[in-house]
Amino acid sequence: MDEARGNARARHAVIFLGPPGAGKGTQAKEVAHRQAVAHLSTGDMFREHVSQGTELGLRAKPIMARGELVPDEIVLGMIEERLMRPDCASGFVLDGFPRTLPQAEQMDRKLVTLGYGKPVVIHFVVDRSSLLRRLTGRRMCAVCGRIYHIYDRPSRMPGLCDDDGGALMQRQDDTEAVIKDRLAVYDRQTEPLVEYYRTHGKLWELDAGAEVESVTKAVMKILDGNGNR
Ligand code: AP5
Repeated sequence: MDEARGNARARHAVIFLGPPGAGKGTQAKEVAHRQAVAHLSTGDMFREHVSQGTELGLRAKPIMARGELVPDEIVLGMIEERLMRPDCASGFVLDGFPRTLPQAEQMDRKLVTLGYGKPVVIHFVVDRSSLLRRLTGRRMCAVCGRIYHIYDRPSRMPGLCDDDGGALMQRQDDTEAVIKDRLAVYDRQTEPLVEYYRTHGKLWELDAGAEVESVTKAVMKILDGNGNR
């Protein structure tokens, strides 16, 4: 029985879709861990490139600082390379990708070549005022990337990660002005994917305004049913 469940899960391609601050990263880390699949965050990948000063990072840095999207061809090249690594063989959770129609269409083609069915797409729905509060209060561990919130999910020791003692940093794009631009970019370029996935995926609408643990429970319920209703 467990093996059967494991095999069913092995074919999951899961996409977390939602605006900045909706909780995609928080949930993707937890859910990918519970399902023993890879967590692929394009935002984390870009931040890693930026911190290492790679050529890709140098190109992405000013774009991210403005809250705009990195060009599709760069994102697609990076994600396709990542999907070929062994840890993706038993499924993956995509967090922050796809974000444009060309990215979604290319991903659909890639999923066919990798032998996946339609992706399970979970649309995180949260009201705008909560998004602003979440993003301005977010802090991330500079070492492991664990996500905190100064009021709602604080670390035990102020400014230090509970897991490894790493310094907690504020993301450059988490200022009110850039958040406003990121939300506008989301509305214009990414929100249309909700409609796209109504026909090209198994789309679930999720109330992601609830507390973290309830959201995790709701996501796990969807995935335990293989994304089927
Ligand atoms: P990326 O890093 O993907 O940022 P994002 O999509 O804007 O999403 P966020 O990471 O801001 O939010 P989240 O939904 O993950 O929320 P989180 O869990 O952290 O992208 C950054 C940039 O990279 C882009 O602007 C772009 O330039 C570039 N990029 C990335 N991917 C790209 C792509 N595919 N194409 C082109 N460019 C791309 O939670 C936020 C806060 O809320 C935390 O403090 C958390 O503790 C708190 N929180 C979470 N859940 C809850 C809850 N249920 N209740 C209360 N608080 C909660």
